[in-house]
Amino acid sequence: MKLLSLLLLLFIVGHNKQAHVTGDEKFLYSGFADSKLILNGAAMVMPNGLLDLTNGSVRLKGHAIYPTPLRFRDFSYNTVQSFSVSFVFGIVSPHPSNGFAFFISPGKNFSDALPTQYFGLLNDQNDGMETNHIFAIELDTIQNSEFQDINDNHIAIDINSLHSVQSDSASYYDDMTGVLKNLTLVSGDPMQVWVDYERETRRINVTMAPLNFAKPSRALISTNYNLSAVLTELAYVGFSSAAGKANARHYILGWSFSMNAPAPEIDISKLPKMPRLGSKNWSKIIEIILPLATAGFILAVGGTIFLVTKKYLRYTELREDWELEFGPHRFLYKDLYKATEGFKNKHLIGSGGFGRVYKGLLPRSSMEVAVKRVSHDSKQGIKEFITEVVSIGCLQHRNLVPLLGYCRRDNELLLVYEFMPKGSLDKYLFSEDVKPPLSWAQRLGIIKDIASSLLYLHHECEKVIIHRDIKASNVLLDNDMNGRLGDFGLARLYDHGVNAQTTHVVGTIGYIAPELASAGKPTPLTDVFSFGIFILEVTCGRRPIMKNEEENHMMLADWVLEHWQNGSLTDAVDTNLCGNYDDLEACLVLKLALLCSHPFMHARPSMRQVMQYLNRDIPLPDDHLTPTQMSFEMFSLMQNEGFDPYVMSFPSLSTSYKPSVL
Ligand SMILES: *[C@@H]1O[C@H](CO)[C@@H](O)[C@H](O)[C@H]1NC(C)=O
Ligand SMILES: *[C@@H]1O[C@H](CO)[C@@H](O)[C@H](O)[C@H]1NC(C)=O
Ligand SMILES: *[C@@H]1O[C@H](CO)[C@@H](O)[C@H](O)[C@H]1NC(C)=O
Ligand SMILES: *[C@@H]1O[C@H](CO)[C@@H](O)[C@H](O)[C@H]1NC(C)=O
Ligand SMILES: *[C@@H]1O[C@H](CO)[C@@H](O)[C@H](O)[C@H]1NC(C)=O
Repeated sequence: MKLLSLLLLLFIVGHNKQAHVTGDEKFLYSGFADSKLILNGAAMVMPNGLLDLTNGSVRLKGHAIYPTPLRFRDFSYNTVQSFSVSFVFGIVSPHPSNGFAFFISPGKNFSDALPTQYFGLLNDQNDGMETNHIFAIELDTIQNSEFQDINDNHIAIDINSLHSVQSDSASYYDDMTGVLKNLTLVSGDPMQVWVDYERETRRINVTMAPLNFAKPSRALISTNYNLSAVLTELAYVGFSSAAGKANARHYILGWSFSMNAPAPEIDISKLPKMPRLGSKNWSKIIEIILPLATAGFILAVGGTIFLVTKKYLRYTELREDWELEFGPHRFLYKDLYKATEGFKNKHLIGSGGFGRVYKGLLPRSSMEVAVKRVSHDSKQGIKEFITEVVSIGCLQHRNLVPLLGYCRRDNELLLVYEFMPKGSLDKYLFSEDVKPPLSWAQRLGIIKDIASSLLYLHHECEKVIIHRDIKASNVLLDNDMNGRLGDFGLARLYDHGVNAQTTHVVGTIGYIAPELASAGKPTPLTDVFSFGIFILEVTCGRRPIMKNEEENHMMLADWVLEHWQNGSLTDAVDTNLCGNYDDLEACLVLKLALLCSHPFMHARPSMRQVMQYLNRDIPLPDDHLTPTQMSFEMFSLMQNEGFDPYVMSFPSLSTSYKPSVL
């Protein structure tokens, strides 16, 4: 019995010893809560079981070590047994910093090891020495030239040195396609690593994959290395890290190990959750980002409001109740703005006393228009202009530039006219470039056209409209070279808000009737005066104020009168015509012009009479029109001084001007 018990004891001991020799060390951590890991330095286990190797600290070593050393060599063969390791990790690193390592080491005292690129495992003295007996898998997020790292995102096998035995870019082979797919260690995404060593073949396989992926069948690194020449009989396994930059986090979520068998599978569902960013980090980021984001948001909202407001203001118009009835004549400012590309200078086709004129293409109808911007501060004037000119049927006459409508803004009236492709008459009269010059027939036609339009404004409209700015540059030519009067009624805008005492005269020097200059009251006859000057311009091809032979400024009317007095009236006709005109017509027109621009208002004909003279329905009143010694200038002067021709009898003046009966 004693022998039997002894044998049994021997068997048990032997069996135990056998069990130990074969090696069956195995562990599995899905999270590290309640684990008995040895933690030193920065390493700590967070309440949720997440192992944090750095604690966000800088250059502080952190180690997490399985509490008991494992027997890597068995007694029988004295070679390192097969082993298998698997772990799930996550790296968060706001700045480029070193990674961490899984290690197998004879000791657990790393007080002499250096941080950062030495991973808290070795130092500059012992790196590379066989006496280290260290095997490690590094996950490095910095490229260290000292150790000839391949890049800043690699996984490598280290043996006794941080000069890796073999390394590869963090990646994995997709089982389905066989394609190598890159991983980014610092992505903050958890990943899994498998390390397998086979005793018989001395093959080390390193495999990695994103979490939730099964272990790829093809290893990323597969190399032969006789670990029997490296590892000690008993060795500790663990993780080591010592980040060089603040807030780099090296988290281990799960870990399993097995000697002589595949490492137990880590149950992913039980792993602790990893904060995407360290909490300290997060609050720092909130501290920095939040004010920036808030400022950015406010700026963005402000900017949007500003832009919308600007756009809104850009297109704002003035619209009042009384305008409702003129709706059809109303244009949207937005359309006019677009038509002229924001009133760009390249669209400017003219600028005169009343404002600038732009050529535009209406967005919807693709109609060419001329947009006149009239700046004005009299609301009353605008209202009267619109009610009198826009609303009434005065818009339609074949010798008026068609007014299509209007738009109002603060202190600005925009008038939309049909675009006249041939431009204004003055350039045909005075510009050397425009060849050939207008023929006599064309000139006479244009004079009749403008007479007809004025007749319309003065006598045929519901209300008398005084143009007040008749001149060659306000006459536009349509495609058939018909004259069309523009800017009608605009002067009215300037009548209001003007003190009667101030001599605020609307019109153009040289065309202004003398009585207007003194009394300031426009009448149809002041238009007739300007029309007379206009006839002279067209017939003589000269400007109303010209230079005579002695280079003195002279009124065109006086110059023509002089010719008449000298019996050479036709010499006043434009020499550009080269004599190609009808003498009778030219003389009639010139005399009519002088009659129209008679300094005495009541000597002038009405537009109705002008039409009759032009059409030769009635002859010119020759008895009223004989050359006189008195120049137009003198008459103007006298009137300006306050003489009234009706009260005065002019006994001393030999003038044949008599007030004509209208
Ligand atoms: C690590 O974290 C703990 C808890 O947040 C803190 O008390 C400790 O000071 C930290 N240590 C280092 C080295 O940052
Ligand atoms: C670790 O090793 C150092 C010397 O290398 C020694 O001074 C220290 O006491 C050791 N620490 C422990 C806990 O054994
Ligand atoms: C994977 O990473 C390596 C090394 O950084 C690089 O050369 C390669 O172009 C990457 N491949 C893809 C598909 O991004
Ligand atoms: C190591 O990897 C190679 C190639 O992927 C494979 O053939 C071999 O079976 C692997 N060995 C171990 C121990 O996983
Ligand atoms: C591996 O190393 C051990 C220890 O140095 C040695 O005894 C053994 O022969 C080596 N095996 C091979 C295949 O080289």
